[in-house]
Order: sequence, then structure tokens, then C-alpha cells
Amino acid sequence: MAPPMRTLPRTLLFATLVAACGDAGGGAGAAPPAGGEGEGEGEGEGEGEATLTPCERRWEAVYGPGGALDRIGKPSCDEAVGGPEWPEGREMFEQRPGFVEELDALDLTELPEAIDMGGLNTLELGYVGYALEEPTCETQPDPDPACVSAVHPVLDRDATLAQGPLGRVVLGALLRGLQADPPQAFDFVFMRRGLHRYYACTRRIPTDLETFRREIFDYTTQEGRVIDSFPKVAQRRMRSDSCLGVYVGEALLDGQILDTEILMTKTRTDGALDFLAYDPDGRLVDRGEFATAGGPPIMAAAPYVCTSCHLNRTVRPNRFDVQFPLMAVDVD
Ligand code: HEC
Repeated sequence: MAPPMRTLPRTLLFATLVAACGDAGGGAGAAPPAGGEGEGEGEGEGEGEATLTPCERRWEAVYGPGGALDRIGKPSCDEAVGGPEWPEGREMFEQRPGFVEELDALDLTELPEAIDMGGLNTLELGYVGYALEEPTCETQPDPDPACVSAVHPVLDRDATLAQGPLGRVVLGALLRGLQADPPQAFDFVFMRRGLHRYYACTRRIPTDLETFRREIFDYTTQEGRVIDSFPKVAQRRMRSDSCLGVYVGEALLDGQILDTEILMTKTRTDGALDFLAYDPDGRLVDRGEFATAGGPPIMAAAPYVCTSCHLNRTVRPNRFDVQFPLMAVDVD
């Protein structure tokens, strides 16, 4: 049976799916906690295990060597993650079949060894940085010139190839751009399709929620708070572990969980977020349903759709590090 149709609250002005999202969060980054943040109480001084705060201990257990993320490892790249059926009628770029074959058919060594990235706009550079997990500029609002130049003024082809699937996707998007008529600096659609196909398998992401709860954060032990969620057009139960920098949102309808979405704010070296989405049975999926302006919710591809709203527009190039986007204006 199809779930009941959800519509946007009338009193809320909602930005379109990919339109401007303000940012309230930001400032994510892979750095161990300073001390006993979160549930931790103790005052950790010195270096021995015995003096670690509870937060530091949990941190180590998840992010430390041999910790949960190391044990979980990366999902296989052989198969696409998949998810619920795409609805009829509206085709996302990521639905186009044949990405793997198209990428494999490209001779990426046709690209120069040193690739000039000067023709890419900041959003395209943002996706390149995200795919390659490159540290980007922090300084705002007036970025230090050195910081700007740190972001791929020139991309090393062979080092990028060696980065694995998402490195090949970036190079593929550059080559497809060059091959276009007229040539473009970057084939953004190809980049989106590649991010969709290879994102999950390049991250250390649990393929089911049970593993997530057992190894990383058992959010069910928290009551959480329920909000009216703008992007989900539903109620949403929010829970988090501030020590680990993990945020869990469960979209709810009539007490049923529609989906579980998770932000991991401390898993990356570029300060951006990792985006995880799970279906009602707790299986990792590569898509999710979100509000649109004026219409019914639509299914869109993760992590691209997530990045479109959790995008930090004040950082150049754009970075995906906004934990809690401010998206709606109450006009009453
Ligand atoms: C249409 C815009 C939009 C899209 C798309 C979107 N988000 Fe969000 N996200 C928001 C907004 C706005 C909030 C603030 C809370 C709310 O209204 O639900 C939020 C909050 C969250 C939170 C809770 C953060 C906290 O501080 O507790 C999580 C987790 C989350 N998003 C994960 C995701 C994931 C994963 C995806 C992709 C599968 C995604 N989001 C896609 C707009 C979006």
C-alpha cells in the first residue's frame, strides 16, 4: 500500500530542493574531542588509557586504530547500493544505466598528467574536493589566497587515478568534458552519476542499521526530540552523539519509520559530512525522499541530494559541512 501523501505545511515557505539553503551548522571536521564533551564527565589529563575521559574512550573505540570503522570497512564496489524503486515519471541523472561501462570505456590517460582545474566553477571544485576528500579553505569571509590555491589549481592525474573509484570518476568527468562538443571543463552529470555509484563503497559505512547501532552509536537508548521536519515533510525524531559527532534523523509517519538518515561529521579529512541513508528495514540505500516546492516529495539520489542542502555556501569552494540547514521561513 502506498503511504499517505504528505504535503508541505502551508505556512512555510520552502526553498526548492536544490535552491539556497542557509546554514546554521558548519564547522565540521575530523578532530578528536578536546576533552570530556558529550556524555563524558571525567577530566582527562595525561596520556595513559586510565586517564581518558568517557568521550575519549568512545572516540577511540569508533575512530581509533582497530576501532569500529576499521572493523566495518567499506561496502563492496561490485554492486550498486540500490534502494526503493525509482518512481515513474521523473528521471534523475543518477538513474541513467551504464555508468560503470561508460567509465571503463574511457582512456583516462588521454588527460594531461597535470590537469589545469582553472575552468571549473566553485561548485564543481566542491564536488571534486568531496570526491577526493581534499582539505579545502576554512577562512571566511575573506579567504586567504594561499587557501584558495590549495584547492586543485592543478590536479595530478596519476595520483588521482591511484585514489580509486572516485578518483577515476573525477578524471572521467574531466575527460568527458573535454570530449564534449563544444568542450567543457567538466561533465557535471557524469560526476553526479559516478558519485552515486561509488560513494558508499569508498567510505567506511555500515550496510545496515543494526551494525551501525552495535558498533557506532545505539541511538535507540536516547529518547530524542521530535520535530516537524522541512525536508522530510514529516515528523522527524532527532538524536545525536555530540562526542562522536554523529546525528541521526528518523522520518516518522503514524509511528512508522519512513527512513533513517545519518550525518557523520568526524569521519573525513576534508571537514565535510558523510551522508548515510537507510530504508525502513535498516538497509543502506542510495536514495531518499525529500520535499519539493509546491509538489509531492520526490525521490532523489544520495549523497548528491544530501549535498545539495547541506552545502556551505560561504566557503569557497563550496563544502558540504552544514549539519543543520535552515531552510524554511515561517510567514505567519
Ligand atoms: C531538501 C533539503 C535537504 C536534503 C535533500 C537533505 N537534508 Fe538533511 N537536513 C535538512 C534540514 C533543513 C535539516 C534540519 C532538520 C529538519 O528540518 O529536518 C536537516 C537535518 C538533517 C539531519 C539532522 C541533523 C541534526 O543536527 O540533528 C540529518 C541526520 C540529515 N539531515 C541527514 C541527511 C541525509 C543523509 C541526506 C541525504 C540522504 C539529507 N539529510 C538530505 C535539509 C536537507
